[in-house]
Amino acid sequence: MVSKVKSYATYGIKAVQVLVEVDLIRGLPGVSIVGLPDSAVKESKERVKSALINSGYPFPLKKVVINLAPADLKKEGTVYDLPLALGILASAGILRTESLDDYLIAGELGLGGELHPVKGVLSAALLVKELSLKGLLVPKANAEEALLIDGIDVIPLSNLKEAVDFLNGEIKIEPFKGSSVSSSTLNFSVDMADVVGQFHAKRALEIAAAGRHNVFMVGPPGSGKTMLARRLPTIMPPMTKEEIIETSQVYSVAGLTSQVPVLTRPFRAPHSTASDASIIGGGSVVKPGEVSLAHNGVLFMDEFPEFKRSVLEALRQPLEDKVVVVSRASGSYTFPADFLLVAASNPCPCGYYGFSDGKNYCRCSPVQVKRYRSKLSGPIMDRIDIKVSVPAVKPEDFKNSSSEPSSKIRERVMEAYEVQKRRFRGLKISFNGQMGRREIKKFCILTSEAEELLVSAVNSMGLSARSYDRILKLARTIADLELSEKIEESHVAEALSYRDV
Ligand SMILES: Nc1ncnc2c1ncn2[C@@H]1O[C@H](COP(=O)(O)OP(=O)(O)OP(=O)(O)O)[C@@H](O)[C@H]1O
Ligand SMILES: [Mg+2]
Repeated sequence: MVSKVKSYATYGIKAVQVLVEVDLIRGLPGVSIVGLPDSAVKESKERVKSALINSGYPFPLKKVVINLAPADLKKEGTVYDLPLALGILASAGILRTESLDDYLIAGELGLGGELHPVKGVLSAALLVKELSLKGLLVPKANAEEALLIDGIDVIPLSNLKEAVDFLNGEIKIEPFKGSSVSSSTLNFSVDMADVVGQFHAKRALEIAAAGRHNVFMVGPPGSGKTMLARRLPTIMPPMTKEEIIETSQVYSVAGLTSQVPVLTRPFRAPHSTASDASIIGGGSVVKPGEVSLAHNGVLFMDEFPEFKRSVLEALRQPLEDKVVVVSRASGSYTFPADFLLVAASNPCPCGYYGFSDGKNYCRCSPVQVKRYRSKLSGPIMDRIDIKVSVPAVKPEDFKNSSSEPSSKIRERVMEAYEVQKRRFRGLKISFNGQMGRREIKKFCILTSEAEELLVSAVNSMGLSARSYDRILKLARTIADLELSEKIEESHVAEALSYRDV
């Protein structure tokens, strides 16, 4: 008898149904798997055989033929262990088949029959809903991530025997219940109030968060750039349910099960030596990169000029499109990558060019400084609206410092979000930072004084058309933070201060 067990495969963050078909035919005992399995799937037969025997089931003395349909999609990983084992038992008449139709099933088997977590369960949960199935049978460790999707039964399993007994109706397993997630949490271990001084930089981050403008910070060693960047997620609005689901899906398919659900905006800080694939995504088994793990949050690139040129080049596409598309012979994989970029750098190799504090002076030659800075030009810098210098705080400022807490700043950011929501209703974009030429023309109306200031700045500073647009976008966000319809002179003046570093 041919048995059919429903499972899934993920492509990017999307799950599609895979039907595991098992047939037992006469012939030499053995197992063959067809339907584009990768090596992890091929190895599955050894695990399944041991797991079945060690769980007290006989292994059929027949030829076991397994097809993973649709046969033209590549299947990766270990999700099919449990479906295979159940399929074999169903074909052998040990497992009743009626209830198999109701569930999507996934799980990696240990040799003793115990179940280990697999990737992509959250995407699978969405698929269960899409297909109007009853629920999902998954390893216990994966149950919590599936909770993000309402209206489906998530059956948590410890081992193969439990799965068999449950499907045969011999035991009852209550669907997994935890505290279901309705919105994001705002529990941060850090706060903007921790940062002494740096009002200019903090204000720049407020504007960045409000209008989703990418930021570049330049300053000497130890001036607090990393500290500031780390606190950016704390002034961003809580994540919406959709954002939580989307970001969690990325972590789920990346196999970062313990971090799912992602309830606070991610902060990712890859090292400058990281490979293209680890930052952008890809690899032989396609995985999301740092840009996708930072989806709906912050990607912090410290020592920005030290990153490989190929990485900086490749960043342009996700910055522009908010998604990463990895193409392979087996198909293309799409991962979301809508992140706020915070880049940081020292001004020169020694770190003190233009930031001498009386004790430390720049020791670099002009050529060294020039070479270092040359890496900071080009197309990638065109996509960064805010440039801010972060000088070291003087010791005396540490004495009587008082700083606004993140919650206060976040309130203003959220008000600016509302303004933008109304402005961009029905359009493809949601934030000022995403405006193109046409939107800038339509939404960035200047008062005549503001216009005058901008024109004189353009003439005296020799601004390019690109930087002109950037200033308008920034001025729009600054005006929004004040709930001002029109862009006034003071807004343009402030926007001009984030021009060059
Ligand atoms: N403004 C500040 N308020 C409070 N602490 C600060 C401030 N600036 C620096 N510090 C202290 O100095 C440490 C170093 O700061 P941080 O790592 O953020 O500097 P950085 O600018 O990233 O340096 P680098 O260029 O070496 O990466 C912080 O952990 C913090 O303890
Ligand atoms: Mg740092």
